[in-house]
Amino acid sequence: MHTKPIGVFDSGIGGLSVLNALKEMLPHEDILYVADQAYTPYGKRTKETITARAVAITNWLVAQDCKLVVVACNTATTNAVAQLRAQFSIPFVGIEPAIKPAALGSQTGVIGVLATAGTLTSTLFQTTSQDYTQGLEVISQVGHGLVSLVEEGKANSETTEQQLREILSPMLEKPIDHLVLGCTHYPFLTQTLKKILPKNVTVMDCSAAVAKQTNRLLDFHNLHNTKGGKTAYYSTATPEIDVWNSFGVAEVKQVEI
Ligand code: DGL
Repeated sequence: MHTKPIGVFDSGIGGLSVLNALKEMLPHEDILYVADQAYTPYGKRTKETITARAVAITNWLVAQDCKLVVVACNTATTNAVAQLRAQFSIPFVGIEPAIKPAALGSQTGVIGVLATAGTLTSTLFQTTSQDYTQGLEVISQVGHGLVSLVEEGKANSETTEQQLREILSPMLEKPIDHLVLGCTHYPFLTQTLKKILPKNVTVMDCSAAVAKQTNRLLDFHNLHNTKGGKTAYYSTATPEIDVWNSFGVAEVKQVEI
């Protein structure tokens, strides 16, 4: 059981930010990464479609013998992880915007959240936000177009910088001291964000926390692999190999799910 692979999925290449953290913490695990590029971006899709995709991909990962699945996508986690946990017997690790640590760490009492529309409108996000941000001002913005810009390999382009400046302007008018990145594509915008954000703003990315939680669950279920270390990459669309290469991935197989 322990030599079986871990499954990881996202709507696209954004989940590679989580995968990198997983590989750093768990270098001897074999991993299957699925990018649902035929359906990207998830952010504009309905809860029903996102859930149906999450279930279909998990079914495929289970058929490949995965022992645990990491949902490396905030939009899929906030909309579909409850359904996945109800339907499948393997353990799941999800990712949600790091509202709680941002709220606890805020000195100015104002925090920013950047996420997809699908995440911001989800019940799970709204409940967490209400539970942890009493007495704080939370400025949430939808990252319109950002996922597609990352998917096109334009994370560090001028177009992206301009788009980000526009999206972040309501936050920059206020004294935010934390910016929560509520989408796994956004850590790839860090370089551009650094040009825009005041120095005192802490950018919250929870990829490392997801890797830690995965480690804990592997411990708990006694599933650790000590002999693996390979990662295989799959896309549900024809992969733009130049973009994948720029993210350090040499080979991607197309798969119908
Ligand atoms: N990377 C995803 C997330 O964390 C999906 C974004 C999208 O496809 O819109 O939300």
